[in-house]
Amino acid sequence: MSSPPAAPKPVTVPEFVAAKAAGRRLAVLTAYDYTTARLFDQAGVDALLVGDSLGMVVQGHSHSLRVTLDEVIYHTRCVARGAGRTLVIADLPFMSYQVSPEQALASAGRAIQEGDAHAVKLEGGGRSAEQVRKIVNAGIPVMAHVGLTPQSVRLFGGFRVQRDAKLVDDAKAVADAGAFAVVVECVPADLAARVTAAIPVPTIGIGAGAGCDGQVLVAHDMLGLFEDVRPKFVKRYAELGDAVRQAAAAYCRDVREGTFPAKEHEFK
Ligand code: KIV
Repeated sequence: MSSPPAAPKPVTVPEFVAAKAAGRRLAVLTAYDYTTARLFDQAGVDALLVGDSLGMVVQGHSHSLRVTLDEVIYHTRCVARGAGRTLVIADLPFMSYQVSPEQALASAGRAIQEGDAHAVKLEGGGRSAEQVRKIVNAGIPVMAHVGLTPQSVRLFGGFRVQRDAKLVDDAKAVADAGAFAVVVECVPADLAARVTAAIPVPTIGIGAGAGCDGQVLVAHDMLGLFEDVRPKFVKRYAELGDAVRQAAAAYCRDVREGTFPAKEHEFK
């Protein structure tokens, strides 16, 4: 009798980092619930980010500023239960780390202890370096985020492409502080490639071209579920919005015509 296939090996932070030197591109997606996390885990995604983008795609706001740490922890716990193999990263929301390195560490600790996250993400380059150092010194891996940092949307005056070459120094500052990876969002491809060449840890691009060490997309965008905005950088791998509408309309029709439930859905 053949033995059952071995459970796939979990992705660890050191393996995630080593992918850069090995030239293996990293595939990251956001997730906010158990069912989606399980499907993405089975599909072979390297890391699941419980992004504060949940403010838009789950809660229906036009920004992420209202998302709380308690909400991120709740969604991270749901995702962690579905992620058998994948690295789970909790996004620290607005005002949960900006006040001080001590506040950042307390928030990161809650995400790990109460949310079952493996790592946390926070926004900012040089301005967040002390926060990154404090959290990493406590043994918690941190992914940083430079370029378009959506929690600064009021400062930027909108969700705009970031072209300042200072980004390279920002990425170096958080990598020096111990970040294990850096998200680079909405940056011209050549600048993102310069950031990638300048730091020893993986860059994970979103709207930052093919020169990054990996890519991340918001799940609802790439599945065609979120229809409020269609960013230029998103490739839609499915049109689930259409599929869901059609399924719900077919269900309404069946109920109204009395064709659902049928005999096979009844208990004897
Ligand atoms: O909140 C989020 O989903 C993110 C990714 C888009 C990088 O920060």
